[in-house]
Amino acid sequence: MTATEPVTHDLTTRPKDTVDPARVEAFAGQILGAIADASTALTLSIGHRTGLFDTMAGLPPSTSDEIATAAELHERYVREWLAAMLVGGIVEHDPAAGTWSLPPEHAAVLTREAGKDNLAKLAQFIGLLADVEHQVVRCFREGGGVPYEAYAEFHALMAEDSKDVAEDLLVDEVVPLVDGLAERLTRGIRVADIGCGSGHHLNVLALAFPSSTFVGYDFSADAIEEGRAAASSRGLENARFELRDVTDLSGTGPFDLVTAFDAIHDQAHPASVLRGIADQLAADGMFLMVDIRASSHPHENVDLPTAPFLYAVSLLHCMTVSLAQEGTGLGAAWGRQTATQMLHEAGFASVDVRELDGDFINDYYVARLGSPAGTA
Ligand SMILES: C[S@@+](CC[C@H](N)C(=O)[O-])C[C@H]1O[C@@H](n2cnc3c(N)ncnc32)[C@H](O)[C@@H]1O
Repeated sequence: MTATEPVTHDLTTRPKDTVDPARVEAFAGQILGAIADASTALTLSIGHRTGLFDTMAGLPPSTSDEIATAAELHERYVREWLAAMLVGGIVEHDPAAGTWSLPPEHAAVLTREAGKDNLAKLAQFIGLLADVEHQVVRCFREGGGVPYEAYAEFHALMAEDSKDVAEDLLVDEVVPLVDGLAERLTRGIRVADIGCGSGHHLNVLALAFPSSTFVGYDFSADAIEEGRAAASSRGLENARFELRDVTDLSGTGPFDLVTAFDAIHDQAHPASVLRGIADQLAADGMFLMVDIRASSHPHENVDLPTAPFLYAVSLLHCMTVSLAQEGTGLGAAWGRQTATQMLHEAGFASVDVRELDGDFINDYYVARLGSPAGTA
């Protein structure tokens, strides 16, 4: 074929015997499974939002009436939801007794009591993304992106997710990942959090390390307001929040530690932000970048259990919000290889990538301006 010949994708021109009917059937089953799982994800989200999982975790096997009464919800809706949960393999049902129950092993990953292990709260992102599907489809045809403002609930969901991780892991597991960091924070250092959102990470650190000073930057006025309110309700005098586009960090430093929790990959101009962070660090400072765990090569993510979710979140949020600002649209699965290269290009001489057992979504990048021999 010459370079000018059109490529045909017309299956009718292929010999019939190249289509394996068993493979077609198996694949159709796979697609039906995907649609079924997506449907279960949406109804899982409803179970979280309505508090039904929390209610059921505290009840013995109960009728739909009893569950609806305990949850203060309308029985007809609860009954239909219970049926969805049964066929989705989430709850158990005794047809003779007319009762429904949530096994404790399922409650362990579906209730608010489960904290950071509560996966039902993650299911809420499916509805959030579905909300902008039409706008994203339009972008396939017309280009551009869907702006942050289109996601009414984004900051609330992000804050709900970050809160548990921040409270369960940050001080006891994330800080110790970096040699000497706990000691420096205890003695007192200057810390900035980039794209701080509603400020859970910053406030948790400020509470744990009162001798250090913390500033959070974000360009969402609502998120900054929430961060301020939370800091003031905890009486934190060492934490402040500033409304700022972090594409320009000039005049903010120097900082001994800069953190970014899931806030680099959806930047419009991530390379400029990384350079700005490097510029604002003290010579012996460090950058802790927590970002999505993935390879930069899609074929290496095929066996990553979170990958379908990551690419969906990227397509329907992270990539498109960046493109909406005429940004680079890096995407959530920019991956270790690209992230490490970009950190080096921004001026970080040493980049270590660590994993945390309790966090299956993120990698932890510890980047320093000096050589790897440098200590915290
Ligand atoms: C995925 S959220 C993470 C928020 C928070 N760090 C957390 O973990 O909950 C990314 C955050 O970056 C903020 N952001 C994105 N681009 C920004 C920019 N150029 N300047 C300031 N904030 C930005 C968004 O408003 C959002 O709060």
